[in-house]
Amino acid sequence: MAKVVRAIRGMNDILPEESFHWEFFEQIIRKWLAIYGYRNIRTPIVEQTDLFVRSIGEVTDIVEKEMYTFVDHLNNDSLTLRPEGTASCVRAVVEHNLLYASPQRLYYSGPMFRHERPQKGRYRQFHQVGVEALGFVGPDIDAELIIMCARLWQMLGITGLRLEIGTLGNAESRALHRARLIKYFMQYEEMLDEDSRRRLHTNPLRILDSKNPKLQEIINSAPKLIDDLDEESRAHFETLQQILRNRGIDYEINLRLVRGLDYYNRTVFEWVTDRLGAQGTVCAGGRYDGLIEQIGGKSAPACGFAMGVERLLALMLECGEDVSRPTPDVYIVHQGETVIDFAWKTAEFLRNEGFKAILHCGGGSFKSQMKKADASGARYALIIGDDEVLAQQVTIKPLRENSNQACVELNAVVDIIK
Ligand code: HAM
Repeated sequence: MAKVVRAIRGMNDILPEESFHWEFFEQIIRKWLAIYGYRNIRTPIVEQTDLFVRSIGEVTDIVEKEMYTFVDHLNNDSLTLRPEGTASCVRAVVEHNLLYASPQRLYYSGPMFRHERPQKGRYRQFHQVGVEALGFVGPDIDAELIIMCARLWQMLGITGLRLEIGTLGNAESRALHRARLIKYFMQYEEMLDEDSRRRLHTNPLRILDSKNPKLQEIINSAPKLIDDLDEESRAHFETLQQILRNRGIDYEINLRLVRGLDYYNRTVFEWVTDRLGAQGTVCAGGRYDGLIEQIGGKSAPACGFAMGVERLLALMLECGEDVSRPTPDVYIVHQGETVIDFAWKTAEFLRNEGFKAILHCGGGSFKSQMKKADASGARYALIIGDDEVLAQQVTIKPLRENSNQACVELNAVVDIIK
């Protein structure tokens, strides 16, 4: 036998037993985005590597070790499978000058790729729904993004998520803070681990994100960005909180919220759950006012977030949302050479009426066809034999309840199924 080819580690097939959960989720997502006026943008899943290096930042885990980068040998271009959607979205907005006339509320969804160590809730191909509001200075739009998330959790039946918000200030306050952090951590250089020492001068903010238990005490006493915050950013953060409080959204302030991407300034936020083990962040984002200019556009403010679909789906099911498996309305069982034409006609007639009809294919005895009808989950079996064709009627047999079968005309089938 030929050797079996398997999927790549950390990249999952989503089989029919599971995919109906995805379809349920996607329907809700579409409705949710529509009621907030967000429009869909679709970009390629491969981009020039440089786009991600410049936007996500050279000294980040994603760019340093998680990107699927390869050379297109046909023209020697360095290409990368997108590890996230913001960079591509901003690239497209700049390339097509979408901010020319007005700000944009956009969303995208689809697979993203990061070469991380796979575990529950963490995959190498995973899916995001991302929302980006471009051209708004905020903080009202920051609040809108957070508030719309809160509504989505309700629509998905998800409870118990914690909202953490923080602020990173503007470029100057971050530069000031950075300098203070370097000075502070230099005092403990001997005690830092290799990763943190390497980041000391390139990206000291990321040291704050270290999970190394030996460093937690040093990290806890490190200078806090809030003390270096510029006045405008402070006011921005205050107003955001005011709106959230007025709208009844609970939040915790987390001034250590660092995020794994470098493009953020001012507002950052994460929605977190304790119910999924280690990978508890289901949705995260923030403001990135410098990114559009950084990748060649005319300076414009922007803010957005992305959620991990696998994690949210797991949480939705964990919270008890009962997604019903899609089943056909009828399964058409037929036998006899003269019958097939009437069986096709019946199936198409019912589909025209909007019903889900499965026409048995592949022949077989009456008994085996009835078994398949039952296994399909259909509510009714329609039985067509020579007698039915003669009478131009079908026999309808309920499969899920104890009532008798009846021989009726096609129009009557519609009434019964309804
Ligand atoms: P991120 O925090 O890197 O942000 O990813 C957003 C979400 O994607 C995470 O909170 C998580 O739910 C999910 N996620 C990330 N990596 C994985 C993985 N390996 N497996 C499963 N799920 C994962 C961004 O990507 C930003 N682009 C968000 C954003 C949009 N900021 C502004 N606009």
